[in-house]
Amino acid sequence: MNQRASQAELLGASQARVAQVIDPVDWEHFCAEYWDRKPLYLADGSDRFASLADAATLRRLVESGTPWQYRRLPEMYIDSGFVPHEDLVHEYVDMDGRVARAPRMDRVRQLLLNGATANCFGQEAHFPELMALKLAFAQAFSAEVETSLFYSQKDHPGLAPHYDCGEIFVLQISGRKRWFVSDQRHVNPIVGYGGPVAYDDKAPHATIELEPGDLLYLPRGTFHHACALTEESLHTSVAIKMPSYLDLLQALAGNAADLDAMRDYLPLGGPAAWADARVELVERLRGATALPAYGAAVQRLLGRRIPAR
Ligand SMILES: [Fe+2]
Repeated sequence: MNQRASQAELLGASQARVAQVIDPVDWEHFCAEYWDRKPLYLADGSDRFASLADAATLRRLVESGTPWQYRRLPEMYIDSGFVPHEDLVHEYVDMDGRVARAPRMDRVRQLLLNGATANCFGQEAHFPELMALKLAFAQAFSAEVETSLFYSQKDHPGLAPHYDCGEIFVLQISGRKRWFVSDQRHVNPIVGYGGPVAYDDKAPHATIELEPGDLLYLPRGTFHHACALTEESLHTSVAIKMPSYLDLLQALAGNAADLDAMRDYLPLGGPAAWADARVELVERLRGATALPAYGAAVQRLLGRRIPAR
């Protein structure tokens, strides 16, 4: 089997795995009608996600401090309030002079006893099927993917109303959780850009109760919040982090110094003449993107965080 054929087969297998998750909506229909457009709720009520992770193991991991070893710190919330990392993490300088950190386990355990929510990143090493799911989504969408595990407790809201900057697939693993999905949507949010956007609690919203096996897809920018209805609730949030045209522009800007046409002077005449050079800029960009090296550069610059096929 040649390499191109095996890549196509792997992509087909990845899309088939995603198709299982969004069944009975098929891949093409999802991409055309829902992707980056509107929420999708699929009731299932089966144990189809039970093998991804389990609440008892995740709680044990949190109680032992394991998620704090991952590069992205876990987030804890108590009744719609975020618990600052510095309240939970103790930093110190080790024998080699390196800054090390350790979670304050007494505080973590007390928060859990008080009903806190824990959102844990990078725990796939403990849950092989979650790892397989993450890879399938990453390959199917050709994007960086993050799978976090949300452990929450009855009648204790986790996050305050907010939106995310990636496409979010919520897979309810165990327990039940009530979601409030607003019609309010912020346009094309990107991590680290723009000021805060106020939540409009008067905007119409859907109330959805997720049961095990249910799926909820939220396009980026969709305001939402949720609260567990059972003693424990566990879901995984599969976040798709697509590159944007802004990423493309920034990545290419970093490479522009290699192009003679981009190191060329702007015309004499000061700011007014430089503004008028926009037509020339577009022409030069067109020329640069026509070079054979352009495709390779895009793949190198934007493909770094996508798993190899
Ligand atoms: Fe969210």
